Amino acid sequence: MDAPADPLSLPAAVRAFDAMAPRFDERFGGWRSVAAQRAAVRRHLLATFPEGSALLELGGGTGEDALFLAARGRRVHLTDGSPAMVARAAEKVAAAGAGGSVTLDCVPLEALGELAEARVSAGLPSFDGCYSNFAAFNCVEDHRAPARALARLLVSGGRAVLVVFGPFAPGEVATLLLRGQARSAFRRLSRRPVPARVGSHAFTVTYPSPRALARSFSPWFRLVATRGIGVFVPPSSAEPAISAWPRLLAALERVDRVVSAPLALLGDHVLVVLERTGAPA
Ligand SMILES: C[S@@+](CC[C@H](N)C(=O)[O-])C[C@H]1O[C@@H](n2cnc3c(N)ncnc32)[C@H](O)[C@@H]1O
Repeated sequence: MDAPADPLSLPAAVRAFDAMAPRFDERFGGWRSVAAQRAAVRRHLLATFPEGSALLELGGGTGEDALFLAARGRRVHLTDGSPAMVARAAEKVAAAGAGGSVTLDCVPLEALGELAEARVSAGLPSFDGCYSNFAAFNCVEDHRAPARALARLLVSGGRAVLVVFGPFAPGEVATLLLRGQARSAFRRLSRRPVPARVGSHAFTVTYPSPRALARSFSPWFRLVATRGIGVFVPPSSAEPAISAWPRLLAALERVDRVVSAPLALLGDHVLVVLERTGAPA
């Protein structure tokens, strides 16, 4: 699909990330809490998708996870709604010589149905699975439409691994209360879209519980598992301070490995695993 010509036509959240794309890796890449949470997600992705899998990535940003998976024998079709994110990812893919394993496409989640239609019409093969890391699905209000599209894009039995913000993260509540940001501290409890900001760009995010997300997917997917990402490993709101404590973080990562299943709903993020059970009529 072609990139949308007019940046103002992009969804507000996409516009916000688009503006920060050139600085995205620099801003978040050095934070150890983010690296620890990313490492946990990657363990699950490797365990879920065997070598040789053809995967669709949603909200793939600058391609960090696509390049990681490509280096480990998976093929990834990275999509993101932000043209600048996709452009940055393309530069990194070219620099890594990974063009044979990672392809790129500028597609907002809102237009996933068009991608499905185009691929089905062209007779292109279905993907073995899909994944989305770090909250792209929190940037949309309607989860049913992308779910429907994904049911057309994945093979029967294919898995969708979606990493979304957890519905209640005690680590973030504590951090924000300590900073005197009481109103923000409990925003995840809202069942309505909540104002958010990246740089100077305002948009809204949603905090669906994993069950609510699974309900949106339920006509075509069944919920398989939920895992907490960043249960004791702190959220990025604890940065940059927490990066100064690498040994503490390493210990908290070990704790998270033990509690990620029973305390899944308390994670800064929750990794939701869904399995495609049917296709839209
Ligand atoms: C926090 S970043 C995470 C990027 C990447 N997955 C990572 O782990 O580094 C969220 C990404 O979601 C993308 N995004 C936000 N809203 C989107 C939408 N409606 N459709 C597609 N992508 C979207 C943004 O452009 C951004 O790249």
